[in-house]
Amino acid sequence: MRLLFRKTLKKFLDLPLRVKFILSFLVVISFGGVVSLFFGTRLEHRTIFSLAQAKVKHDLASAWMVYNEKLNDIRDIVRLNATRDSIQKALLARDREVLSRQLGRVQREFSLDVLSITDEAGTVVFRASRPESFGDDLSWDPLVSRVIKKSEVITATEVVPREELIKEGQDLAERAYLEFVPTPKAVPRPEDREEDGMMLKAASPVLDDDGRVLGVLYGGILLNRNYDIVDRVKDIVYKGEKYKEKEIGTVTIFQNDLRISTNVTDEAGRRAIGTRVSREVYEAVLVQGQPWIGRAFVVNHWYITAYEPIRNSAGDIIGMLYVGMLEKPYIDLRNNVMLTFTGIAGLCVVILLVILSVITSSIINPLQRMVLATRKIAQGDLNHKVGIDVKDEIGKLAQSFNQMTENLKAANENLVQWGKTLERRVEERTKELREMQDYLIQSEKLASLGKMAAGVAHEINNPLTSILINTHLMLEKLDKKEDFYENLSLIAEETSRCTQIVKGLLEFARQSPPQKAFTDINSLIERTTQLLENQASFQNIRIVKDLDRSLPPLKLDRSKIQQVFWNLMLNACEAMPRGGQLLISDKLSADGKYVEIRFIDNGVGIPKEHLHRLFDPFFTTKSSGAGLGLAVSYGIIEQHQGKIEVKSEPGQGTVFTLIFPVEDKSDPSDKGGNPHA
Ligand SMILES: Nc1ncnc2c1ncn2[C@@H]1O[C@H](COP(=O)(O)OP(=O)(O)OP(=O)(O)O)[C@@H](O)[C@H]1O
Ligand SMILES: [Mg+2]
Repeated sequence: MRLLFRKTLKKFLDLPLRVKFILSFLVVISFGGVVSLFFGTRLEHRTIFSLAQAKVKHDLASAWMVYNEKLNDIRDIVRLNATRDSIQKALLARDREVLSRQLGRVQREFSLDVLSITDEAGTVVFRASRPESFGDDLSWDPLVSRVIKKSEVITATEVVPREELIKEGQDLAERAYLEFVPTPKAVPRPEDREEDGMMLKAASPVLDDDGRVLGVLYGGILLNRNYDIVDRVKDIVYKGEKYKEKEIGTVTIFQNDLRISTNVTDEAGRRAIGTRVSREVYEAVLVQGQPWIGRAFVVNHWYITAYEPIRNSAGDIIGMLYVGMLEKPYIDLRNNVMLTFTGIAGLCVVILLVILSVITSSIINPLQRMVLATRKIAQGDLNHKVGIDVKDEIGKLAQSFNQMTENLKAANENLVQWGKTLERRVEERTKELREMQDYLIQSEKLASLGKMAAGVAHEINNPLTSILINTHLMLEKLDKKEDFYENLSLIAEETSRCTQIVKGLLEFARQSPPQKAFTDINSLIERTTQLLENQASFQNIRIVKDLDRSLPPLKLDRSKIQQVFWNLMLNACEAMPRGGQLLISDKLSADGKYVEIRFIDNGVGIPKEHLHRLFDPFFTTKSSGAGLGLAVSYGIIEQHQGKIEVKSEPGQGTVFTLIFPVEDKSDPSDKGGNPHA
């Protein structure tokens, strides 16, 4: 059970927000609606029906008035006629003719069913309804006996036995005779018919001049099948009102539980006499003598009814007076009210639902927009904004959300920027490392080669020197015209060249520590170019200098650096066999820490594949070159913590750049900064 509840709750919680809202409201509204409808109906039912009951009670009182009025009428007729002289005299004289004339007229005039006169002993002297029937004793009659005894006028409703009715007139007995119509809810009775009648009666003493009772004049109306009272009540109280062609008000006089006078009709539209009252009413009114007010099923419709017992002169219950209103108009009224109420409630629910859907939309739509925004942002679209400009909590949430996105975007941009910087730094570092590595490789190569070269040169130098000396000695002794002179000269020349190479090698290998002194770099350049300009090969080459006169003095080994200049200038000239221009420039670096010297020619240039081998010893493209010039220069620059760089475009020219660190003159140490560092 609990599990089922939990499952249902979980399912409910998983529903979309809008559905949850609407469902919750619907449940609350429906519950409230059902409860208020239930109690409303009950309350309304009670109100309407208590009003109806009050009315029917009042109507019953009116019915009693009509009923008693009729009794009083009979009483007045009887009393007035009992006091008439002619009646007195006729009674004394037993003059039935006069009595017949007098009483017959009164009976007809006032539509009495019975009008009779007895003597002082209660023996019937004359019956207006049946003149031939007289002489019987009526002293057993409670009214007659009381009038004789008490000499006063008495009225009452009495049940009259069939044999007495017959005495009063056969037609009266016939009117009273009623066969029971089977009634399902009635209390079963052994008999199946009613033969006695119920009468409104009044009796008055006929007195002589001394006030002695001469006899009793009594009159009455048989209520069975007499509809005067019931119809009069209906006319007075209900004014013949109808509801859906059905009389609203009904009135009935019961003899015991039997309808003897009524305007309740059966299915065929006939007065429903002969039917009997239901058991509940029977028990309450006829057995317990209580009035009955409430719903009752009368013949074939529900009525709001009031019953009260009719008692005879002895106080025994002999019948009932009933008034009833058709329940249908009240039920319809209640239903109409409830229908209107339900209609209004339904309309309210619809309006509420509309309002609810507007409110939920105003909550959920922004939320959906935010969900969409989070998705977009998750996909990387940091420019997405939530466009909600309401000022409530959701608006604030959207604002914070946008702010958050903004911050995220800024953070992201920073991160990207930082990443780029990192990449650049890594690139720079890698380049530097590669350069450093190249530099180290080159240094290592030169160091090992230098050692080998020194050994070789040392071994070759002595034999070469003796060859050269001996050759020159032989040449001095030979005449120039001798056959071998030319050959010997060639030997001397080539040997000399070898000595030069060996010298270069030794120079390269020696790696003797530089003798540094502060030097004006410009004058060193000038001196070297002067040497060069004296060379015949420079006739077609223009040397241009662009020198910065304000350069600080550099701490250098003059002869070694001059050798470097010489090598670079010579190479440039050799690269311009058909002439050209060699531009030599120097300047201080932007930060003032280095001096840069450039040798720019517009010679043949260097193919790309040669660039990385330029500083290798013995790399040369020249037939007579030793390939040591740049290797030696590299070693020297390195000894000065400097740097040598080359840029070249085949067919365009070449630029060699020397970079020297500027040393502080006040610095006692000989070492300067390394531009590679
Ligand atoms: N300015 C330049 N223009 C074109 N090529 C150059 C230039 N400088 C150097 N080279 C190339 O670099 C090679 C090596 O030069 P390096 O000075 O070391 O040797 P070399 O000039 O060939 O012989 P030597 O030992 O006599 O100097 C040259 O053979 C040449 O191919
Ligand atoms: Mg050279």
